Parts: sequence; C-alpha cells; structure tokens
Amino acid sequence: MHSTVALFNILKKDSTAPQSRPVPQHIAVIMDGNGRWAKKRALPRTAGHKVGAETFRTIATYCKDIGVKYFTVYAFSTENWKRPAEEVETLMNLFRRYLREAIETMAENNIAVRVLGDLTALPEDIRSLIDECEQTGKQLDNPAIASLCINYGGRDEIKNAMRALARQVQAGELQPDDITEEMISSQLYTADMPDPDLIIRPSGEIRTSNFLLWQSAYAEYYFTDVLWPDFKPEHMDQAIESFNGRQRRFGGV
Ligand code: FPP
Repeated sequence: MHSTVALFNILKKDSTAPQSRPVPQHIAVIMDGNGRWAKKRALPRTAGHKVGAETFRTIATYCKDIGVKYFTVYAFSTENWKRPAEEVETLMNLFRRYLREAIETMAENNIAVRVLGDLTALPEDIRSLIDECEQTGKQLDNPAIASLCINYGGRDEIKNAMRALARQVQAGELQPDDITEEMISSQLYTADMPDPDLIIRPSGEIRTSNFLLWQSAYAEYYFTDVLWPDFKPEHMDQAIESFNGRQRRFGGV
C-alpha cells in the first residue's frame, strides 16, 4: 500500500463500466471475509484487512464514478473490540492512515468522508482526524458521501436514539404518543442521509450482523461468495444489475 496513492483515484477514462443504467442512491457494504482471504494465503489476518482497506478505496471510487451518491461501509463493529489486540491496533492504524489521506484528497475528488458510530470509545487522535474530515467535507459543493461505520452497532444506535427521545419526554418537551418514525430516524448517526437502497454482503455469510438495523427496513440485500479483498468493480456491477432487476414495492402491491 502506498501512502502517496490518492484516497480516491479517479478511474481511467476507458473504464468499461456500463454508463447508462440507473444506480442506487445509497449502497452499503458489510466488508466481510478479510480473515479468510488471508488464511487461504497463509498470511496473518491483518494482511486481509490491509487489502480490504485498498478494496474500500477502489470500490468507493468506483461508486462515485458511476454516480452513487452515498457509499457506506461497516468497518468496525461495537463487538470487534473482542478481537486480538494486534488486530484491533492494525485496524485503528488503517483508519488513521485512510482518514489522513481523505483529508488531503477529499476536495480534489469531491468525496466527503464521514465516520458513523459511537466515537467516544476511539483514541483521541482518531477522533481529531474524524473531526477534521467532517470539517473539510462540509466545505465541499454537493460531494459524494463515503461513510465508514466505526464502533458501530445497529442496536447500540437505536438504544442511543431511544435515550435521546426519552430525555426529551422526561424534560416535558415531548409526549410519548407524539414520537414518530421520522423523529427516531433523526436521532440516528445517519440522520441526514437517505436509507440504503442496496446492502451488499460478500464472503458467503447470509446475515445482517447488527448493520443499519433501522435504516435497512426496505433495503434490497445482495449476497455473494466473493471475499471482500477480492471484490472488484465488476462485482459491484453484478450487484447493481441484480438490484435493477428487482421490483421494490415498499409494502405496496
Ligand atoms: C470482517 O472480516 C471485517 C472487519 C471486521 C474489518 C473490516 C475493515 C476493513 C476492510 C479495513 C477498513 C479500513 C478502512 C480504512 C476502510 P473478518 O475479519 O471477520 O473476516 P473473516 O470472517 O473471514 O474472518
């Protein structure tokens, strides 16, 4: 991995991406399979995360290039702290490196990088980088949004939203019967974002693992056996093709 490589390289003009199809407004990915990718090569798990981070770079760039406005990835769950210290440290170092790169290259690529999750548990220097990212992103004009979910858990997010609304009820500012779904959405980390249209899980696992629980109510899921470090733009094309072939009825007929 080269630190000199821009975070979001602009794809070459001769990209074979089909250009005329519709694309989902918001795509989210559970970046799974890094450990198995490394194991297959007799490498440490951390090597899988390093390649997985490069894949994030490539796929986030690709999504922006084909017109996806929001791209959100599950990078570290509230449960991932249970992993070996060395693995956690590697992931934190990857976040440091990519956030620094993002701050430098965001304006040139017009992609705002955000971090969603309970940031209070993160090391102070990472929180500063996240703040800087947020500030830099705010100065962009209608950017694509790439969100990293770090120390994120769907239940934890909903619990925090409930607590915030409960506090408003306790203060007499809100009646329980006046609580709406929109109010709950507005307390989530994704408050100013549309719900994901398409959620992709690579690596053959078929579960949601506490990712965007509230927001995924009407999302289309796409599962593939490809491991995240092997995930290429052509796999994104396949996921979008599958999505475009589905009829979304949102509970209607
Ligand atoms: C799940 O695969 C993956 C993670 C817990 C971490 C995902 C993080 C990255 C890809 C690095 C992200 C960094 C940036 C800067 C975007 P796993 O380790 O559980 O794989 P396994 O199920 O095969 O063991």
